[in-house]
Amino acid sequence: MRTLTTIAELRAARAALPGPVGLVPTMGYLHEGHLGLVRAARAENASVVVSIFVNPTQFGPGEDLATYPRDLERDFKLSEHEGVDLVFAPSVSEMYPPDDAVTVDPGPIGSRLEGAARPGHFRGVGTVVTKLLNVVQPDRAYFGQKDAQQLVVIEHVVRGLFLPVTIVACPTVREPDGLALSSRNVRLTPTQRAAAPALYRGLARASNGWRAGERSPECLRAAVRAEVEPERELCLEYVSAAHPRTLEELQTVPAEGVLLSLASHAGSVRLIDNVRLGEEGATG
Ligand code: PAJ
Repeated sequence: MRTLTTIAELRAARAALPGPVGLVPTMGYLHEGHLGLVRAARAENASVVVSIFVNPTQFGPGEDLATYPRDLERDFKLSEHEGVDLVFAPSVSEMYPPDDAVTVDPGPIGSRLEGAARPGHFRGVGTVVTKLLNVVQPDRAYFGQKDAQQLVVIEHVVRGLFLPVTIVACPTVREPDGLALSSRNVRLTPTQRAAAPALYRGLARASNGWRAGERSPECLRAAVRAEVEPERELCLEYVSAAHPRTLEELQTVPAEGVLLSLASHAGSVRLIDNVRLGEEGATG
């Protein structure tokens, strides 16, 4: 495995890789959720590239850029163990040279849900993912269903800019108690960690309702709230039952089903989660 920090080195090493090439973009502090994406990429491609870059442009003022967990040495070891060919870990100035002001804005889809709570977040994500796709030029790029809106936004950018890459969605990896794995989970206190599984319990309660025939978006949202609101350590920011592609908030359920998602604070840590409710049942 080679670890590279400059675009020039990465391009040269990429040119020598056998194809097809799979890219797994990450912000590091790798966990089993990230490794699930790496394994999917390993299974479907001749070569695998992992990028590790804590992207400053997707963090708002007052968000956790400075305290975002980092451990590059550990990430390199885990990547090597998974059979990754190249790790690209650039500096901020490599990805954003001083004279660079180009951005990729996904439009209204990036202003809903997470985008409403975090203005500019998806412009940052759209910009960095487009840069990474252009640098690595993978055949496939792998993203987690855990960040459902991010996946929708990236598919939208790839379609809109005619980027020649296939986006592959991978299922959410969870702790045994249901909490979705996240690099931010290490910052939860023991009491917050004990309360956090209520988020998935809420989504599971709504999924059970869905399987039993519940089709009212308002009742699905209420099922999540009923499970989470009694937890004093958690403060819900939103619960959404939205169209899985347009992300518009639903009054009635369309044929495409429902993306049921939430964001919650546990102290200073912000957690998100979601499930997809469709004709075939509930996933995520
Ligand atoms: P990061 O939060 O490090 O996540 C990297 C990838 O891992 C994303 O596609 C995310 O959806 C996926 N992932 C995280 N937790 C997961 C879990 N529990 N199960 C399955 N997949 C999971 O998302 C980002 O970084 C950044 O926004 C990035 C796309 C790298 C752009 O900066």
